[in-house]
Amino acid sequence: AQDKPQGEQYDFVFEDAIDFVSQEVQKQRLSRPKRRRTSRSAGGSGSSGSSSSDSDAAAAPPALSAAKAAVRAELEAEHLSAHEKLLAVRRRLPVYPYREEFLAAVKEHNVLVVVGETGSGKTTQLPQYLHEVGYTKLGMVGCTQPRRVAAMSVAARVSQEMGVKLGQEVGYSIRFEDCTSESTVIKYMTDGMLLRELLTEPDLKSYSCMMIDEAHERTLHTDVLFGLVKDISRFRDDFKLVISSATLDAEKFSRFFDDAQIFIFPGRMYPVDILYTKAPEADYLDAAVVTVLQIHVTQKVPGDILVFLTGQEEIETCAEILAQRTRGLGSRIRELLICPIYASLPSEQQAKIFEPTPPGARKVVLGTNIAETSLTIDGICYVVDTGFCKQKSYNPRSGMESLIVTPISKAASRQRSGRAGRTQPGKCFRLFTAWSFAHELEDNTVPEIQRTNMGNVVLMLKSLGIHDLLHFDFMDPPPPEALIRALEQLYALGALNDRGELTKQGRRMAEFPLDPMMSKAVIAAEKYGCVAEVVTICAMLSCGNAVFYRPKDKAVHADNAKQNFARGGGGDHAALLRVYDDWADANYSTQWCYENYVQVRSLNRARDIREQLEGLCERVEIEMTSNPGDIDAIAKAITSGYFYHTAKLSRSGDYRTVKHQHTVYIHPSSVLAKTAAEDPPRWLSYFELAFTTKEYMRMVIPIKGEWLAEIAPHYYSTKEVEDARTKKMPKVVGAASTAQRPAAS
Ligand code: CDP
Ligand code: MG
Repeated sequence: AQDKPQGEQYDFVFEDAIDFVSQEVQKQRLSRPKRRRTSRSAGGSGSSGSSSSDSDAAAAPPALSAAKAAVRAELEAEHLSAHEKLLAVRRRLPVYPYREEFLAAVKEHNVLVVVGETGSGKTTQLPQYLHEVGYTKLGMVGCTQPRRVAAMSVAARVSQEMGVKLGQEVGYSIRFEDCTSESTVIKYMTDGMLLRELLTEPDLKSYSCMMIDEAHERTLHTDVLFGLVKDISRFRDDFKLVISSATLDAEKFSRFFDDAQIFIFPGRMYPVDILYTKAPEADYLDAAVVTVLQIHVTQKVPGDILVFLTGQEEIETCAEILAQRTRGLGSRIRELLICPIYASLPSEQQAKIFEPTPPGARKVVLGTNIAETSLTIDGICYVVDTGFCKQKSYNPRSGMESLIVTPISKAASRQRSGRAGRTQPGKCFRLFTAWSFAHELEDNTVPEIQRTNMGNVVLMLKSLGIHDLLHFDFMDPPPPEALIRALEQLYALGALNDRGELTKQGRRMAEFPLDPMMSKAVIAAEKYGCVAEVVTICAMLSCGNAVFYRPKDKAVHADNAKQNFARGGGGDHAALLRVYDDWADANYSTQWCYENYVQVRSLNRARDIREQLEGLCERVEIEMTSNPGDIDAIAKAITSGYFYHTAKLSRSGDYRTVKHQHTVYIHPSSVLAKTAAEDPPRWLSYFELAFTTKEYMRMVIPIKGEWLAEIAPHYYSTKEVEDARTKKMPKVVGAASTAQRPAAS
């Protein structure tokens, strides 16, 4: 049996090796091919290089096809141009044989639900097919993606396949980045961007076709789009709508879209052997590292490894440990290429994960659930599934939203393991027990709309003139409390009046592609004369990833550099402002970033976002006032938007949210984390909550309690925000509270 990795190839075994037990080989196939035979014989690690024609590729013993493909690629290299080679690759994708059938179905039906396995070519090919038969003469072909990285990377791929420059005929549009032009005919975009476009073009007139891709992901924006595009397709006869999903819940989509036709692309899927740990793993990150090394040294079948982790920080840590441990093993093992992939990774590095692995080496891709269905990386044959992802969770009663590392669903776990069987039989190492899979994982992920703050979406729908939200055509409606909470919040922010109608301020807020709290802060800054500063802070908060850089071996220097920016008060927000301003003073120098332990690409992105926000301010006629020295003014503007996110120091020395008395902690990465132990600010406003071991406030700024009654009188009574304690808090709150402060995690 090949269920247990064996260490015969090398003269060492890991002491901390993990014991896996194999389940029977799962036949993870989406649907039976109608006309194609797909052999599932788990032939050994064949290395025969016999060639075969295109048409029998799917029927060939799976282990052979990879080798054949390699041989074929080499042959082609001799006499074909790069473009012709890509064409050959396109013709080998599972959707290709169904091109005509698909186009005929689109012609006949205005709404089509398509289902096809991840990697079969839906995202990259279907828009091209529509383009090739002339739909783009009538308007653009659009395709939405739930994730930024996917939109960018797919657009890049398609532009390559079409032999055009990215941003010309093929482009993409994501928040704060529009890479399209007059000549763009195929446009990939995030679902959030299409929602924004609907604000200026409610009938999507410039599109002849729209593909809502990755529908199974059920992101908030995709769910809202469903209702809106359904309406458009009802009144626009010349509009083709394609809803595409990687899972078989097509019937639900079909029912929602007035019993739309379903089109299934039969997939080709090789068997994947599922292995579970014998006992639960206490530390999944450590277990992931050990498993990767174990696979690398014991699995003889060549093939790359894909590891599912929960976020950028974890991915970076994992990459670091792997690099360190493989260095330790030196030449005793083959080369292991470590490739991280996450949203804020620069595009040239994103491209790296798609490059073929050099012979003899093995690639390990460390990703989040972005690699579940949005991106397909060829050559993966081992999957390591930690069983976790980072998820938004929202409590509509308290209005608290938090990012939480959560166990994934069975459906997600199946998608993950499926990534191992795309080109040959594979193995999936689940870092949890079979019992846990059967008894602890939910069947399906709860749609985001049912676990998120609806503020943003409600503001957008209101701007679209949709008044009756309770009766909006949702596939799965959000909890009514969540809608009511959102309406209340928008009312408190001054975006809606007491009849629930959009105010002038609300209209201005909707212009900004920001969370309503943030757009309110920008607008409020006008009153406090510090628009330039608040815009900078918002840009820094939106740049999506860590601003500060903290290499383990220079942690002390990095921490000192960071604390330098905190001098002068104003917590994390003011520190971010100082970073940006100092960098701008240094002429946006890269060298300056290195010296100050700041990530240059975060700052470049912030600069980009800042410019756009400045442009939007101009559009809604907000003057760029500036007063960098007035921290109070800045804090007041921030509070005007974030008065929901406030916490107060309690008697026991920890923080409680003002409205609901939840215990929260300053995140260890905050510039206030250390000083607050000795001299804790009484009141804080925070940017967001993240739950890891505790409920942490990320990015905090000290404020004054009395501001709350002044700024948000609808929301806070004077009583709530006055200090019940007559006596002043002692300056040093003592050992008890210090002990409660989070240890750096
Ligand atoms: O959308 P779907 O999952 O059905 O497949 P796709 O994203 O269109 O991918 C089809 C093929 O294109 C896969 O073999 C991918 O590996 C390849 N691809 C690529 O090489 N580079 C990208 N940036 C995107 C896709
Ligand atoms: Mg896709």
